[in-house]
Amino acid sequence: MKVLKLIGKQNTSTIMIEKGILKEAAELCRTTCMEMGPSQICMITDTNVAGLYLKELEHRLSELKLPIFHHMIRAGEEHKTLETVAGIYDTLSNHQFGRDDMIIALGGGVTGDIAGYVAATYLRGIRHLVQIPTTLLAQVDSSVGGKTGVDLPQGKNLVGAFRQPDLVLIDPEVLTSLPEKDYHSGMAEIIKYGCISDPELLELVLEVEDNKRITELIERCIRIKIKVVEADETEGGLRRILNFGHTIGHGVEKLGNYTKLSHGEAVAIGMAAAVKMGESIGITKDGCFERLIPILQAFGLPTALTEPVEEVYEAMLTDKKKQGDSIHFVFIEEFGKTQMKKIPAVELKKMMKVLGD
Ligand code: GLY
Repeated sequence: MKVLKLIGKQNTSTIMIEKGILKEAAELCRTTCMEMGPSQICMITDTNVAGLYLKELEHRLSELKLPIFHHMIRAGEEHKTLETVAGIYDTLSNHQFGRDDMIIALGGGVTGDIAGYVAATYLRGIRHLVQIPTTLLAQVDSSVGGKTGVDLPQGKNLVGAFRQPDLVLIDPEVLTSLPEKDYHSGMAEIIKYGCISDPELLELVLEVEDNKRITELIERCIRIKIKVVEADETEGGLRRILNFGHTIGHGVEKLGNYTKLSHGEAVAIGMAAAVKMGESIGITKDGCFERLIPILQAFGLPTALTEPVEEVYEAMLTDKKKQGDSIHFVFIEEFGKTQMKKIPAVELKKMMKVLGD
């Protein structure tokens, strides 16, 4: 079993990775989070994941001899809203859920973000938060690092809080039940880590057969994330590199009402766009675009804007990475080396013209 630690300002996350680890969930929760003595556990999960893992996990956690209840949210980014959060607050208060109790997020990125936000805000913060990510995207990225939040009609993740989970249990075995589209969406985030920090990943992703090396890929991505987050937990600077491909990605995701494209598909479009723009202004080494495209396409990921450039630009402007009239944009100089630039929005609009060609 791989055990990694992320030392945050408020608390430390223990991240455990191993195939089949969910079978040991009760024991791992006991050894990691029980010293403060929660008196009950609320599992937050979604309608898709519940049918697969909820019963089994509730059964395993019954070993802890604590009351366990669950709150089911509707699956999909379109439900990552304050309304969903309010529904969970209702359930928690109906159960007289206390600050020392435990929230377990069981699901993908949406569930993890919502449950984390609830843990950060209900009663000004719940003591124990465990993330059990069941999608590749959540395993390699969103379950680690403490970003939590929900979307507003104006844009993605516009309300949120930083709250490091106490424990993250990553079981790559659950990925066997993941629909191919979701698996490929997670691959986009792995490719992102390859682009910004670990170019070897760009070769390894193409060698992953039948999940065999996926545990290694997950671990490599998480190690990068830990380094970045420990250096800049609240995204004052360095952490912005993790948003590579996300600025334009969030724009296209929003234009598709969060249903047309998966997050990974949107990020794939955003990464291809960032590399194309970077090459056109001489920041990115020539040839990167040509190399990146077939890697993304190997996972069926889109690589060109699905909407007119002008519309993508407008949708992007509400992204929270905007500061005044400028946007923090992440380029790569070459694979493994990033360059962040604060660009006036009008300049960015000009740079984006190349995406319409
Ligand atoms: N997903 C990007 C970050 O956690 O900063």
